[in-house]
Amino acid sequence: MQNWWKSAVVYQVYIRSFADANGDGAGDLNGLRSKLPYLSSLGVDAIWITPWYPSPMADGGYDVADFRDIEPAYGTLSDADALIAEAHERDLKVIIDIVPNHTSSEHPWFKALLSGDPAARKKFVVRTGSGPRGESPPNDWTSAFGGPAWSQLPTGEWYLHLYAPEQPDLNWDNPEVRAEFEDILRFWFDRGIDGFRIDVAHGLIKHPDLPDAGPRPDDWRTQPHPARDQDGVHEIYRAWRKIAQSYSPERIFVAEAVVPTNNRLARYLRPDELHTAFQFDFTRAPWRAEALRNVIDDALIQADIVEAPATWVLASHDIPRPVTRYARTQPSFDVQPEWDRARWAAEQPDHVTGRRRARAAALLQLALPGTAYIYQGDELGLEEVEDLPADSRQDPTWQQSGYTDVGRDGCRVPLPWSGTSPPFGFSPGEEQPWLPQPAHWGDLTAAAQQADAASCLQLYRSAVGLRKALLPPATPLQWVTGIPKDVVAFARDGFQCWVNAGRNPVRLPYGWKVVLGSIPDIDVVLPPDSAAWLTRKA
Ligand code: GLC
Repeated sequence: MQNWWKSAVVYQVYIRSFADANGDGAGDLNGLRSKLPYLSSLGVDAIWITPWYPSPMADGGYDVADFRDIEPAYGTLSDADALIAEAHERDLKVIIDIVPNHTSSEHPWFKALLSGDPAARKKFVVRTGSGPRGESPPNDWTSAFGGPAWSQLPTGEWYLHLYAPEQPDLNWDNPEVRAEFEDILRFWFDRGIDGFRIDVAHGLIKHPDLPDAGPRPDDWRTQPHPARDQDGVHEIYRAWRKIAQSYSPERIFVAEAVVPTNNRLARYLRPDELHTAFQFDFTRAPWRAEALRNVIDDALIQADIVEAPATWVLASHDIPRPVTRYARTQPSFDVQPEWDRARWAAEQPDHVTGRRRARAAALLQLALPGTAYIYQGDELGLEEVEDLPADSRQDPTWQQSGYTDVGRDGCRVPLPWSGTSPPFGFSPGEEQPWLPQPAHWGDLTAAAQQADAASCLQLYRSAVGLRKALLPPATPLQWVTGIPKDVVAFARDGFQCWVNAGRNPVRLPYGWKVVLGSIPDIDVVLPPDSAAWLTRKA
Protein backbone atom coordinates (compact mmCIF):
# COMPACT_ATOMS: atom_id res chain seq x y z
CA MET A 1 0.00 0.00 0.00
CA GLN A 2 1.31 3.43 -0.88
CA ASN A 3 2.08 5.64 2.09
CA TRP A 4 1.54 2.64 4.34
CA TRP A 5 3.07 4.56 7.23
CA LYS A 6 0.28 7.13 7.33
CA SER A 7 -2.27 4.71 8.74
CA ALA A 8 -0.27 1.64 9.79
CA VAL A 9 -0.74 -0.47 12.88
CA VAL A 10 2.78 -1.17 14.09
CA TYR A 11 3.60 -3.87 16.62
CA GLN A 12 6.59 -3.22 18.86
CA VAL A 13 8.78 -6.26 19.44
CA TYR A 14 11.02 -6.03 22.49
CA ILE A 15 13.26 -8.69 21.05
CA ARG A 16 14.75 -10.01 24.27
CA SER A 17 11.30 -10.82 25.63
CA PHE A 18 9.33 -11.85 22.56
CA ALA A 19 10.13 -15.50 21.77
CA ASP A 20 13.18 -17.67 22.39
CA ALA A 21 14.08 -20.27 19.75
CA ASN A 22 17.53 -21.34 20.95
CA GLY A 23 16.52 -22.11 24.53
CA ASP A 24 18.79 -19.68 26.36
CA GLY A 25 15.96 -17.87 28.14
CA ALA A 26 16.17 -14.72 25.99
CA GLY A 27 14.22 -13.94 22.84
CA ASP A 28 15.93 -14.08 19.46
CA LEU A 29 15.44 -13.51 15.76
CA ASN A 30 14.43 -17.09 14.97
CA GLY A 31 11.94 -16.96 17.83
CA LEU A 32 10.46 -13.82 16.32
CA ARG A 33 10.45 -15.41 12.88
CA SER A 34 8.53 -18.40 14.18
CA LYS A 35 5.83 -16.03 15.46
CA LEU A 36 5.34 -14.10 12.23
CA PRO A 37 2.16 -16.10 11.52
CA TYR A 38 0.84 -14.88 14.89
CA LEU A 39 1.59 -11.28 13.93
CA SER A 40 0.05 -11.75 10.48
CA SER A 41 -3.09 -13.10 12.05
CA LEU A 42 -3.19 -10.15 14.40
CA GLY A 43 -3.41 -8.11 11.22
CA VAL A 44 -0.67 -5.57 11.93
CA ASP A 45 1.08 -3.85 9.04
CA ALA A 46 4.57 -3.58 10.46
CA ILE A 47 6.85 -4.59 13.28
CA TRP A 48 9.33 -2.35 15.06
CA ILE A 49 12.16 -4.41 16.54
CA THR A 50 14.08 -2.89 19.47
CA PRO A 51 17.90 -2.90 19.14
CA TRP A 52 19.21 -6.22 17.88
CA TYR A 53 22.86 -5.18 17.72
CA PRO A 54 25.77 -6.71 19.67
CA SER A 55 25.50 -5.25 23.14
CA PRO A 56 26.82 -5.82 26.65
CA MET A 57 23.17 -5.17 27.73
CA ALA A 58 23.90 -2.41 30.20
CA ASP A 59 20.62 -0.90 28.95
CA GLY A 60 18.78 -3.80 27.35
CA GLY A 61 20.52 -3.39 23.99
CA TYR A 62 20.35 0.43 23.82
CA ASP A 63 24.09 0.26 24.46
CA VAL A 64 25.31 -0.73 21.00
CA ALA A 65 28.79 -2.14 20.49
CA ASP A 66 28.50 -2.62 16.71
CA PHE A 67 25.82 -0.98 14.58
CA ARG A 68 26.38 -3.31 11.62
CA ASP A 69 25.88 -6.70 13.21
CA ILE A 70 23.43 -8.78 15.28
CA GLU A 71 23.79 -9.59 18.97
CA PRO A 72 25.06 -13.22 19.03
CA ALA A 73 22.45 -14.19 21.64
CA TYR A 74 19.79 -13.07 19.12
CA GLY A 75 21.26 -14.66 16.01
CA THR A 76 23.25 -13.66 12.95
CA LEU A 77 23.03 -11.29 10.02
CA SER A 78 21.71 -14.12 7.89
CA ASP A 79 18.96 -14.75 10.46
CA ALA A 80 18.10 -11.06 10.12
CA ASP A 81 18.01 -11.37 6.33
CA ALA A 82 15.73 -14.40 6.59
CA LEU A 83 13.48 -12.60 9.05
CA ILE A 84 13.18 -9.51 6.84
CA ALA A 85 12.49 -11.66 3.77
CA GLU A 86 9.80 -13.72 5.50
CA ALA A 87 8.19 -10.65 7.02
CA HIS A 88 7.99 -9.11 3.55
CA GLU A 89 6.49 -12.27 2.11
CA ARG A 90 3.78 -11.85 4.72
CA ASP A 91 3.31 -8.19 3.86
CA LEU A 92 4.78 -7.04 7.14
CA LYS A 93 7.10 -4.03 7.04
CA VAL A 94 10.17 -4.08 9.28
CA ILE A 95 11.30 -1.06 11.28
CA ILE A 96 14.47 -1.31 13.34
CA ASP A 97 15.88 0.85 16.07
CA ILE A 98 18.79 3.18 15.43
CA VAL A 99 20.56 4.53 18.51
CA PRO A 100 22.55 7.58 17.38
CA ASN A 101 22.86 9.51 20.63
CA HIS A 102 25.35 7.16 22.21
CA THR A 103 27.32 3.97 21.76
CA SER A 104 28.22 1.26 24.22
CA SER A 105 31.41 1.76 26.18
CA GLU A 106 32.43 -1.48 24.43
CA HIS A 107 32.13 0.14 20.99
CA PRO A 108 35.53 0.21 19.21
CA TRP A 109 35.46 4.03 19.15
CA PHE A 110 35.16 4.32 22.91
CA LYS A 111 37.78 1.64 23.42
CA ALA A 112 40.09 3.65 21.15
CA LEU A 113 39.38 6.73 23.25
CA LEU A 114 40.33 4.80 26.38
CA SER A 115 43.59 3.74 24.78
CA GLY A 116 44.44 7.40 24.15
CA ASP A 117 43.52 7.84 20.47
CA PRO A 118 43.01 11.62 19.97
CA ALA A 119 40.73 11.13 16.92
CA ALA A 120 38.46 8.87 18.98
CA ARG A 121 38.33 11.45 21.76
CA LYS A 122 36.74 13.89 19.31
CA LYS A 123 33.91 11.46 18.60
CA PHE A 124 32.57 11.74 22.15
CA VAL A 125 31.72 14.67 24.41
CA VAL A 126 34.82 15.00 26.58
CA ARG A 127 35.60 18.00 28.79
CA THR A 128 37.80 18.94 31.70
CA GLY A 129 35.94 19.05 34.98
CA SER A 130 35.04 22.01 37.11
CA GLY A 131 36.55 22.80 40.50
CA PRO A 132 40.18 23.77 41.22
CA ARG A 133 41.56 20.45 40.02
CA GLY A 134 38.78 19.54 37.58
CA GLU A 135 37.55 17.08 40.18
CA SER A 136 33.84 17.83 39.66
CA PRO A 137 31.68 17.22 36.56
CA PRO A 138 31.76 19.98 33.92
CA ASN A 139 28.11 20.90 34.54
CA ASP A 140 25.03 19.91 36.53
CA TRP A 141 23.40 17.62 33.98
CA THR A 142 21.94 14.42 35.38
CA SER A 143 21.61 11.05 33.72
CA ALA A 144 18.10 9.84 32.84
CA PHE A 145 18.81 6.86 35.09
CA GLY A 146 19.95 8.96 38.07
CA GLY A 147 23.25 10.45 39.18
CA PRO A 148 25.50 12.82 37.21
CA ALA A 149 25.55 12.62 33.41
CA TRP A 150 29.34 12.68 33.51
CA SER A 151 31.93 10.04 34.41
CA GLN A 152 35.67 10.40 34.67
CA LEU A 153 38.14 8.93 32.23
CA PRO A 154 41.49 7.55 33.41
CA THR A 155 43.01 10.83 32.15
CA GLY A 156 40.94 12.73 34.72
CA GLU A 157 38.77 14.28 32.00
CA TRP A 158 35.02 13.71 31.96
CA TYR A 159 32.79 12.16 29.29
CA LEU A 160 29.10 12.82 28.92
CA HIS A 161 26.41 10.13 29.16
CA LEU A 162 22.79 11.23 29.21
CA TYR A 163 21.97 7.62 30.13
CA ALA A 164 24.13 4.96 31.83
CA PRO A 165 27.91 5.42 32.17
CA GLU A 166 28.17 2.47 29.73
CA GLN A 167 26.45 4.67 27.10
CA PRO A 168 28.86 7.50 26.21
CA ASP A 169 27.23 10.29 24.16
CA LEU A 170 28.55 10.82 20.66
CA ASN A 171 29.76 14.20 19.46
CA TRP A 172 27.47 15.03 16.54
CA ASP A 173 29.46 18.14 15.70
CA ASN A 174 32.10 15.79 14.34
CA PRO A 175 31.55 15.10 10.61
CA GLU A 176 32.99 11.61 11.02
CA VAL A 177 30.14 10.71 13.37
CA ARG A 178 27.61 11.98 10.83
CA ALA A 179 29.23 10.08 7.98
CA GLU A 180 29.34 6.90 10.03
CA PHE A 181 25.63 6.97 10.78
CA GLU A 182 24.68 7.80 7.21
CA ASP A 183 26.62 4.73 6.22
CA ILE A 184 24.86 2.65 8.89
CA LEU A 185 21.47 3.76 7.56
CA ARG A 186 22.49 2.62 4.08
CA PHE A 187 23.83 -0.67 5.45
CA TRP A 188 20.37 -1.60 6.79
CA PHE A 189 18.34 -0.03 4.00
CA ASP A 190 20.40 -2.17 1.62
CA ARG A 191 19.36 -5.23 3.63
CA GLY A 192 15.76 -4.30 2.98
CA ILE A 193 14.43 -2.76 6.16
CA ASP A 194 11.53 -0.34 5.74
CA GLY A 195 12.40 2.23 8.35
CA PHE A 196 14.11 3.29 11.52
CA ARG A 197 12.81 4.24 14.92
CA ILE A 198 15.22 6.94 16.08
CA ASP A 199 16.18 6.55 19.73
CA VAL A 200 16.53 9.79 21.73
CA ALA A 201 16.02 11.79 18.53
CA HIS A 202 15.92 15.01 20.56
CA GLY A 203 19.34 14.53 22.13
CA LEU A 204 22.04 14.40 19.46
CA ILE A 205 23.00 18.07 19.51
CA LYS A 206 23.90 19.74 22.78
CA HIS A 207 24.05 23.47 23.47
CA PRO A 208 27.60 24.43 22.39
CA ASP A 209 28.42 25.98 25.78
CA LEU A 210 27.13 22.98 27.76
CA PRO A 211 25.54 25.37 30.29
CA ASP A 212 24.04 24.18 33.58
CA ALA A 213 20.47 22.97 33.26
CA GLY A 214 19.40 24.33 36.63
CA PRO A 215 17.19 22.50 39.10
CA ARG A 216 15.05 19.79 37.60
CA PRO A 217 11.41 20.71 38.06
CA ASP A 218 8.71 18.10 38.53
CA ASP A 219 7.45 18.53 35.01
CA TRP A 220 10.98 18.42 33.59
CA ARG A 221 9.96 17.07 30.21
CA THR A 222 8.04 20.22 29.46
CA GLN A 223 11.03 22.43 30.29
CA PRO A 224 13.75 23.33 27.78
CA HIS A 225 17.08 21.64 28.50
CA PRO A 226 20.49 22.39 26.91
CA ALA A 227 20.90 18.71 26.03
CA ARG A 228 17.54 18.38 24.31
CA ASP A 229 15.78 19.65 21.22
CA GLN A 230 18.53 21.97 20.01
CA ASP A 231 18.01 23.55 16.59
CA GLY A 232 21.08 21.92 15.08
CA VAL A 233 19.51 18.48 15.20
CA HIS A 234 17.26 19.17 12.23
CA GLU A 235 19.95 19.30 9.57
CA ILE A 236 21.00 15.79 10.59
CA TYR A 237 17.53 14.43 9.91
CA ARG A 238 17.22 16.35 6.66
CA ALA A 239 20.32 14.55 5.44
CA TRP A 240 18.83 11.26 6.64
CA ARG A 241 15.58 11.90 4.82
CA LYS A 242 17.48 12.32 1.57
CA ILE A 243 19.04 8.91 2.12
CA ALA A 244 15.70 7.24 2.84
CA GLN A 245 14.15 9.01 -0.13
CA SER A 246 16.94 7.76 -2.41
CA TYR A 247 15.64 4.25 -1.71
CA SER A 248 11.93 4.97 -1.81
CA PRO A 249 9.32 7.34 -0.38
CA GLU A 250 8.05 4.29 1.50
CA ARG A 251 11.20 3.97 3.67
CA ILE A 252 10.51 5.92 6.81
CA PHE A 253 11.63 7.30 10.14
CA VAL A 254 9.71 7.46 13.39
CA ALA A 255 11.24 9.63 16.07
CA GLU A 256 11.33 9.17 19.79
CA ALA A 257 11.62 12.91 20.40
CA VAL A 258 10.86 14.01 23.94
CA VAL A 259 10.33 17.74 23.52
CA PRO A 260 8.46 20.33 25.57
CA THR A 261 5.43 20.89 23.34
CA ASN A 262 3.66 19.54 20.29
CA ASN A 263 4.77 22.67 18.42
CA ARG A 264 8.38 21.73 19.05
CA LEU A 265 7.64 18.17 17.94
CA ALA A 266 6.17 19.53 14.71
CA ARG A 267 9.60 20.91 13.81
CA TYR A 268 10.86 17.35 13.28
CA LEU A 269 8.00 16.49 10.94
CA ARG A 270 8.44 18.00 7.53
CA PRO A 271 8.36 16.68 3.98
CA ASP A 272 12.16 17.05 3.97
CA GLU A 273 12.72 15.74 7.49
CA LEU A 274 11.13 12.94 9.53
CA HIS A 275 7.92 11.15 8.55
CA THR A 276 6.45 10.49 11.97
CA ALA A 277 7.13 10.99 15.68
CA PHE A 278 5.62 9.24 18.66
CA GLN A 279 2.84 11.01 20.54
CA PHE A 280 3.33 9.93 24.14
CA ASP A 281 0.49 11.95 25.68
CA PHE A 282 -1.83 8.96 26.14
CA THR A 283 0.79 7.33 28.34
CA ARG A 284 0.52 10.23 30.74
CA ALA A 285 -3.19 10.94 30.53
CA PRO A 286 -5.51 9.89 33.32
CA TRP A 287 -8.58 7.80 32.54
CA ARG A 288 -10.85 10.83 32.25
CA ALA A 289 -12.84 11.79 29.19
CA GLU A 290 -11.66 15.37 29.11
CA ALA A 291 -7.99 14.39 29.37
CA LEU A 292 -8.37 11.80 26.61
CA ARG A 293 -10.14 14.30 24.36
CA ASN A 294 -7.38 16.84 24.94
CA VAL A 295 -4.71 14.34 23.95
CA ILE A 296 -6.55 13.63 20.73
CA ASP A 297 -7.28 17.27 19.92
CA ASP A 298 -3.69 18.36 20.52
CA ALA A 299 -2.23 15.63 18.38
CA LEU A 300 -4.69 16.07 15.53
CA ILE A 301 -4.27 19.83 15.40
CA GLN A 302 -0.55 19.34 15.12
CA ALA A 303 -0.93 16.54 12.56
CA ASP A 304 -3.05 18.83 10.41
CA ILE A 305 -0.53 21.62 10.51
CA VAL A 306 2.48 19.52 9.61
CA GLU A 307 0.59 17.09 7.38
CA ALA A 308 2.19 14.16 9.16
CA PRO A 309 0.11 11.34 10.58
CA ALA A 310 -0.68 11.39 14.29
CA THR A 311 1.30 8.55 15.87
CA TRP A 312 -0.54 7.08 18.85
CA VAL A 313 1.34 5.29 21.60
CA LEU A 314 -0.40 3.65 24.56
CA ALA A 315 2.67 1.86 25.88
CA SER A 316 6.25 0.81 25.23
CA HIS A 317 9.16 -1.00 26.86
CA ASP A 318 9.79 2.15 28.94
CA ILE A 319 6.36 2.68 30.49
CA PRO A 320 4.23 0.72 32.97
CA ARG A 321 1.65 -1.36 31.13
CA PRO A 322 -1.78 0.21 30.51
CA VAL A 323 -3.59 -2.49 32.51
CA THR A 324 -1.65 -1.41 35.58
CA ARG A 325 -1.73 2.32 34.89
CA TYR A 326 -5.50 2.23 34.54
CA ALA A 327 -5.75 0.04 37.64
CA ARG A 328 -4.86 2.92 39.92
CA THR A 329 -6.68 6.09 40.90
CA GLN A 330 -3.54 8.09 40.25
CA PRO A 331 -3.59 9.41 36.73
CA SER A 332 -0.49 7.91 35.29
CA PHE A 333 3.17 7.97 35.77
CA ASP A 334 6.38 9.87 35.95
CA VAL A 335 5.99 13.24 34.34
CA GLN A 336 2.66 14.34 35.73
CA PRO A 337 3.50 16.95 38.32
CA GLU A 338 0.98 15.29 40.59
CA TRP A 339 2.58 11.88 40.18
CA ASP A 340 3.79 10.52 43.45
CA ARG A 341 5.91 7.39 43.23
CA ALA A 342 5.36 6.42 46.84
CA ARG A 343 1.60 6.72 46.50
CA TRP A 344 1.66 4.77 43.25
CA ALA A 345 3.61 1.97 44.94
CA ALA A 346 1.38 1.99 48.01
CA GLU A 347 -1.89 1.76 46.11
CA GLN A 348 -3.09 -1.77 45.46
CA PRO A 349 -3.83 -1.92 41.72
CA ASP A 350 -7.34 -3.02 40.72
CA HIS A 351 -6.42 -5.08 37.68
CA VAL A 352 -10.01 -6.01 36.90
CA THR A 353 -10.79 -2.36 36.28
CA GLY A 354 -7.38 -1.84 34.68
CA ARG A 355 -7.98 -4.63 32.16
CA ARG A 356 -11.42 -3.36 31.33
CA ARG A 357 -10.15 0.16 30.69
CA ALA A 358 -7.15 -1.06 28.73
CA ARG A 359 -9.50 -2.91 26.38
CA ALA A 360 -11.55 0.25 25.94
CA ALA A 361 -8.36 2.25 25.37
CA ALA A 362 -7.35 -0.18 22.61
CA LEU A 363 -10.60 0.50 20.76
CA LEU A 364 -10.05 4.21 21.23
CA GLN A 365 -6.49 4.10 19.91
CA LEU A 366 -7.30 1.89 16.94
CA ALA A 367 -10.24 4.05 15.83
CA LEU A 368 -8.18 7.22 15.55
CA PRO A 369 -6.82 8.54 12.26
CA GLY A 370 -3.05 8.10 11.92
CA THR A 371 -0.63 5.40 12.97
CA ALA A 372 -1.06 3.18 16.02
CA TYR A 373 1.75 1.45 17.92
CA ILE A 374 0.92 -1.66 19.95
CA TYR A 375 3.47 -2.80 22.50
CA GLN A 376 3.97 -6.58 22.63
CA GLY A 377 1.82 -8.24 25.27
CA ASP A 378 -0.74 -5.46 25.45
CA GLU A 379 -2.81 -7.49 22.99
CA LEU A 380 -2.81 -10.20 25.68
CA GLY A 381 -3.83 -7.73 28.39
CA LEU A 382 -0.66 -8.41 30.41
CA GLU A 383 -0.20 -6.38 33.55
CA GLU A 384 3.01 -4.74 34.75
CA VAL A 385 4.92 -7.29 36.84
CA GLU A 386 5.50 -5.19 39.91
CA ASP A 387 6.78 -7.85 42.28
CA LEU A 388 9.87 -9.05 40.42
CA PRO A 389 12.48 -10.35 42.87
CA ALA A 390 15.12 -7.69 43.49
CA ASP A 391 17.95 -9.92 42.31
CA SER A 392 16.28 -10.51 38.95
CA ARG A 393 15.91 -6.84 38.06
CA GLN A 394 18.19 -5.69 35.27
CA ASP A 395 17.12 -2.19 34.31
CA PRO A 396 19.92 0.33 34.94
CA THR A 397 17.33 2.64 36.53
CA TRP A 398 17.11 0.11 39.36
CA GLN A 399 20.86 -0.06 39.88
CA GLN A 400 21.57 3.63 39.43
CA SER A 401 18.79 4.78 41.73
CA GLY A 402 20.43 2.82 44.53
CA TYR A 403 17.68 0.15 44.33
CA THR A 404 14.83 2.55 45.04
CA ASP A 405 13.28 3.01 41.59
CA VAL A 406 12.04 -0.35 40.28
CA GLY A 407 12.58 0.84 36.72
CA ARG A 408 11.21 -0.68 33.56
CA ASP A 409 11.66 -4.44 33.94
CA GLY A 410 8.00 -4.94 34.86
CA CYS A 411 6.82 -4.33 31.30
CA ARG A 412 9.65 -6.38 29.80
CA VAL A 413 8.80 -9.78 31.24
CA PRO A 414 8.93 -12.45 28.49
CA LEU A 415 5.61 -13.17 26.77
CA PRO A 416 3.49 -16.17 27.72
CA TRP A 417 2.70 -18.16 24.57
CA SER A 418 1.24 -21.47 25.76
CA GLY A 419 1.06 -24.00 28.57
CA THR A 420 0.18 -23.62 32.21
CA SER A 421 3.46 -22.85 33.92
CA PRO A 422 6.61 -20.80 33.23
CA PRO A 423 8.25 -20.49 30.73
CA PHE A 424 4.78 -20.64 29.08
CA GLY A 425 6.23 -21.67 25.73
CA PHE A 426 8.53 -18.64 25.65
CA SER A 427 11.53 -20.99 25.48
CA PRO A 428 11.44 -24.41 23.88
CA GLY A 429 12.77 -26.25 26.93
CA GLU A 430 12.53 -25.73 30.63
CA GLU A 431 15.05 -22.90 30.72
CA GLN A 432 13.55 -20.06 32.74
CA PRO A 433 13.33 -16.69 31.01
CA TRP A 434 15.73 -13.85 31.80
CA LEU A 435 13.00 -12.20 33.88
CA PRO A 436 10.63 -14.49 35.80
CA GLN A 437 7.01 -14.68 34.63
CA PRO A 438 4.10 -14.62 37.10
CA ALA A 439 2.79 -18.12 37.79
CA HIS A 440 -0.80 -17.04 37.01
CA TRP A 441 -0.10 -16.09 33.38
CA GLY A 442 -1.42 -19.48 32.19
CA ASP A 443 -4.82 -17.85 31.57
CA LEU A 444 -3.24 -15.08 29.56
CA THR A 445 -1.16 -17.09 27.10
CA ALA A 446 -1.69 -16.49 23.40
CA ALA A 447 -2.86 -20.11 23.06
CA ALA A 448 -5.45 -19.77 25.84
CA GLN A 449 -6.74 -16.52 24.38
CA GLN A 450 -6.83 -17.91 20.88
CA ALA A 451 -9.45 -20.37 22.11
CA ASP A 452 -11.58 -17.73 23.82
CA ALA A 453 -13.76 -15.51 21.65
CA ALA A 454 -14.06 -12.92 24.43
CA SER A 455 -10.31 -12.64 25.04
CA CYS A 456 -8.22 -9.52 24.75
CA LEU A 457 -6.27 -11.08 21.89
CA GLN A 458 -9.47 -11.69 19.90
CA LEU A 459 -10.59 -8.14 20.63
CA TYR A 460 -7.35 -6.76 19.21
CA ARG A 461 -7.64 -9.02 16.18
CA SER A 462 -11.18 -7.91 15.48
CA ALA A 463 -10.30 -4.27 16.00
CA VAL A 464 -7.27 -4.31 13.70
CA GLY A 465 -9.29 -6.12 11.01
CA LEU A 466 -12.34 -3.87 11.29
CA ARG A 467 -10.16 -0.78 11.28
CA LYS A 468 -8.99 -1.72 7.82
CA ALA A 469 -12.47 -2.48 6.63
CA LEU A 470 -14.33 0.48 8.15
CA LEU A 471 -11.84 3.30 8.45
CA PRO A 472 -10.28 4.48 5.21
CA PRO A 473 -7.10 6.37 6.21
CA ALA A 474 -8.23 9.74 4.93
CA THR A 475 -11.53 9.94 6.83
CA PRO A 476 -11.24 12.79 9.31
CA LEU A 477 -12.52 12.76 12.87
CA GLN A 478 -15.45 14.80 14.12
CA TRP A 479 -16.45 14.98 17.75
CA VAL A 480 -19.94 13.80 18.63
CA THR A 481 -21.49 16.56 20.72
CA GLY A 482 -24.40 16.79 23.11
CA ILE A 483 -23.36 13.68 25.03
CA PRO A 484 -22.54 13.10 28.72
CA LYS A 485 -19.24 14.74 29.70
CA ASP A 486 -17.68 11.45 30.82
CA VAL A 487 -17.91 10.07 27.31
CA VAL A 488 -15.39 10.37 24.49
CA ALA A 489 -17.22 9.94 21.19
CA PHE A 490 -16.22 10.73 17.65
CA ALA A 491 -17.39 9.97 14.16
CA ARG A 492 -15.43 9.12 11.04
CA ASP A 493 -17.66 8.95 8.02
CA GLY A 494 -20.28 6.25 8.70
CA PHE A 495 -18.51 5.09 11.83
CA GLN A 496 -18.53 6.13 15.49
CA CYS A 497 -16.33 5.23 18.45
CA TRP A 498 -17.73 5.71 21.96
CA VAL A 499 -15.74 5.37 25.17
CA ASN A 500 -17.40 5.61 28.56
CA ALA A 501 -14.79 6.80 31.06
CA GLY A 502 -17.40 7.64 33.68
CA ARG A 503 -19.20 5.74 36.41
CA ASN A 504 -22.68 5.54 34.89
CA PRO A 505 -23.99 3.56 31.96
CA VAL A 506 -24.61 5.65 28.85
CA ARG A 507 -27.20 5.19 26.13
CA LEU A 508 -25.75 4.68 22.68
CA PRO A 509 -27.25 6.72 19.82
CA TYR A 510 -30.38 5.61 17.94
CA GLY A 511 -29.91 4.52 14.38
CA TRP A 512 -26.48 2.99 15.04
CA LYS A 513 -25.49 -0.58 15.79
CA VAL A 514 -22.54 -1.98 17.72
CA VAL A 515 -20.02 -3.74 15.46
CA LEU A 516 -17.42 -4.24 18.17
CA GLY A 517 -17.47 -3.80 21.93
CA SER A 518 -14.55 -3.80 24.32
CA ILE A 519 -16.55 -6.27 26.43
CA PRO A 520 -19.13 -8.80 25.22
CA ASP A 521 -22.82 -8.03 24.81
CA ILE A 522 -22.81 -4.26 24.51
CA ASP A 523 -26.06 -3.34 22.83
CA VAL A 524 -28.00 -0.13 23.48
CA VAL A 525 -26.17 0.82 26.67
CA LEU A 526 -22.44 1.42 27.11
CA PRO A 527 -21.35 0.35 30.62
CA PRO A 528 -18.66 2.27 32.56
CA ASP A 529 -15.06 1.70 31.47
CA SER A 530 -16.02 0.23 28.14
CA ALA A 531 -15.98 1.23 24.49
CA ALA A 532 -17.94 0.44 21.36
CA TRP A 533 -17.54 0.86 17.63
CA LEU A 534 -20.75 1.66 15.81
CA THR A 535 -21.94 1.78 12.23
CA ARG A 536 -25.21 3.13 10.89
CA LYS A 537 -28.15 0.76 10.90
CA ALA A 538 -29.21 -0.15 7.37
C1 GLC B 1 15.11 5.41 24.77
C2 GLC B 1 14.74 3.96 24.89
C3 GLC B 1 15.10 3.50 26.27
C4 GLC B 1 16.60 3.68 26.47
C5 GLC B 1 17.03 5.10 26.18
C6 GLC B 1 18.52 5.22 26.03
O1 GLC B 1 14.36 6.22 25.59
O2 GLC B 1 13.39 3.77 24.59
O3 GLC B 1 14.74 2.17 26.49
O4 GLC B 1 16.94 3.36 27.80
O5 GLC B 1 16.48 5.57 24.98
O6 GLC B 1 18.95 4.64 24.83
